[in-house]
Amino acid sequence: MITSVKGMRDLLPPDTRVWNRLEETARNVFSLYGYDEIRTPVLEPTELFVRSVGEASDIVHKEMYAFTDRGGRDVSLRPENTAGVARAYVEHQMPQAGGVKKLYYVGPQYRYERPQKGRYREFRQIGAEVLGAADPATDAELLVMLFDLFTRLGFTGLSVSLNSVGSEESRPAYVEALRAYLAAHEGTMGEDDRRRLRDNPLRVLDTKDPALAAALAGAPRVLDHLDPESKAHHEELLALLDAAGIPYRVEPRLVRGLDYYTRTVFEVTAQGLGAQDALLGGGRYDRLVSDLGGPRTPGIGFAIGEDRLVDVLPEPFRRAAIEGFAPVAVVAIDPADRAAALALAGELRSAGVAVDLDPAGKGPGHALKNAAKRGCRTAVLVGEKERQSGVVVVKDLVERSQREVPIGDLPRTLKGETP
Ligand code: HAM
Repeated sequence: MITSVKGMRDLLPPDTRVWNRLEETARNVFSLYGYDEIRTPVLEPTELFVRSVGEASDIVHKEMYAFTDRGGRDVSLRPENTAGVARAYVEHQMPQAGGVKKLYYVGPQYRYERPQKGRYREFRQIGAEVLGAADPATDAELLVMLFDLFTRLGFTGLSVSLNSVGSEESRPAYVEALRAYLAAHEGTMGEDDRRRLRDNPLRVLDTKDPALAAALAGAPRVLDHLDPESKAHHEELLALLDAAGIPYRVEPRLVRGLDYYTRTVFEVTAQGLGAQDALLGGGRYDRLVSDLGGPRTPGIGFAIGEDRLVDVLPEPFRRAAIEGFAPVAVVAIDPADRAAALALAGELRSAGVAVDLDPAGKGPGHALKNAAKRGCRTAVLVGEKERQSGVVVVKDLVERSQREVPIGDLPRTLKGETP
């Protein structure tokens, strides 16, 4: 037997109904805010992620599916989508088109991490990016959109953890202060944290080592080292979130694991996810586009881990998605009734009724049992008598009841509009 690759999984029905409804809801919300969809390739030049996510990040350092293709190009399966969006933005001269670009995406990402609950090597993200807007009002509206989506999915009680990592001008002074503080702890650091300290001390704030994490309580805080513009940006964002009623918590140690962030960074965690409790992450990246060869263009966005979101979706949303799929089974009682069943199925579909025509033709008993298994809650039987009388038997497979309905009334009856 050949099984799927480690850390990658099949999404099967009926779960895929939940994924679809979730994506549909996200698309609807994003379009209410003026976002358009972008689809970028799964495979990108490795250099793109080295230059954006950063060489010292865990993602680029040890989690990429990187290889040389048959033409000798160094390529990687995308570990995230922001870099690809920024590349496309520059490549297609979107900056020259002027104005603000609001884009969203839904798709698979790849990271060679140790698989565990909520952590896969192939996972999916739903993300949104705004390019060309520097104002804190943009940050605020992005978070308003996120919470609008959460509300429509039925979540209550989520809040966003927020920080500012300052600008590229103010960062070096902070990094030096942090490096000086961490130098005292270098002797007790593991190999990974020593590498982070050397390459990018900010990454040490994400340490997995509990002793070092405890020692970080006294470390300098990036919020105390902000340049005046970043500080004003942060404060105005908090004021706008207060005004909009978005629940947030300032988290001075939040730095995020990707190198492209400037100023605002945020995360939302959810209970019930276990150790991998980050539901989404995001932030501002005012130098990413210029780092990739474009004009200086501010940007901000987020990516939701869709696999994790599905795991904690409120039950009513999940149930509605599962039960929303209930085609009507149309069953031919006899082989001689197949043409009539096919015709009736066609008429019902034209009227907008989803029909699962019994494929086996092994008689009504067999057909009805299988229809229930496939998610049908209603069945219509077509036989000689029905064809003569123009009245068919409609069976409720859940209640185990049945009634007779004139064929002409079927579409309205099956759509729940009792004639
Ligand atoms: P990230 O924090 O690396 O940010 O990933 C965002 C979300 O993707 C995480 O919060 C998590 O829910 C999900 N995720 C990450 N790795 C895995 C995994 N191995 N298995 C399952 N889910 C996972 C980014 O990717 C940035 N591009 C976000 C962003 C957009 N920043 C600005 N714009």
